[in-house]
Amino acid sequence: MQKRLSVAIASVLVLSFGAAAVAAETDGPAYAEEIISMRSSLAKTFVLPGAEVNEDTFKKVCGAASKRVKEINEKGDVKIRHAATKYRNPVNAATPEEAAIMERFMKEADLKEVSDSFEKDGKRFSRYTRPIYVESACLACHGERDTRPAFVLSKYPDDRAYGFKAGDLRGIISVISPKE
Ligand code: HEC
Repeated sequence: MQKRLSVAIASVLVLSFGAAAVAAETDGPAYAEEIISMRSSLAKTFVLPGAEVNEDTFKKVCGAASKRVKEINEKGDVKIRHAATKYRNPVNAATPEEAAIMERFMKEADLKEVSDSFEKDGKRFSRYTRPIYVESACLACHGERDTRPAFVLSKYPDDRAYGFKAGDLRGIISVISPKE
């Protein structure tokens, strides 16, 4: 009886520690892929040639992607973060470390993902990062400075996320979890 109990306790420990230690590495690729492909297909669906692009379009594209990120973050297993050197929402302004990861994606054309770790407030975290590239459907809101929709100008006075061309690196998405 005692032996069975200690085996049970041991496996619970292994399971919980195992899950916490590898969440960014194991779950990162699927989460990053989900958000990147979700935004891409929503942009293709809702940004239509000739149609007006406004805040409602945003809610169906990058807004919907942010909502899904929030939902995942609220579950608490991992934290997803977007970052960009040319950001729109200042919350997503790249830290020097994130800017260095972006730099790697720009220089190393074959680099598809980066796994690393970092320290914040005395704690260590694992991080899985993928690049986000601009597609033609993104240009309605991230293209020329003068063609940005009106709501972007009024809501994001410090906007830097314009002037992109299809194929440019727009930013990165990182999946983060505590490191044991
Ligand atoms: C209808 C307008 C619109 C379209 C189309 C659009 N975006 Fe955005 N995007 C925005 C807005 C507005 C924000 C700021 C969201 C916020 O406040 O968090 C944003 C934010 C982002 C961010 C977060 C980083 C930052 O700068 O704050 C990324 C990454 C991004 N967009 C990528 C894309 C990509 C890739 C596409 C095309 C597949 C795309 N966007 C299409 C309006 C748009």
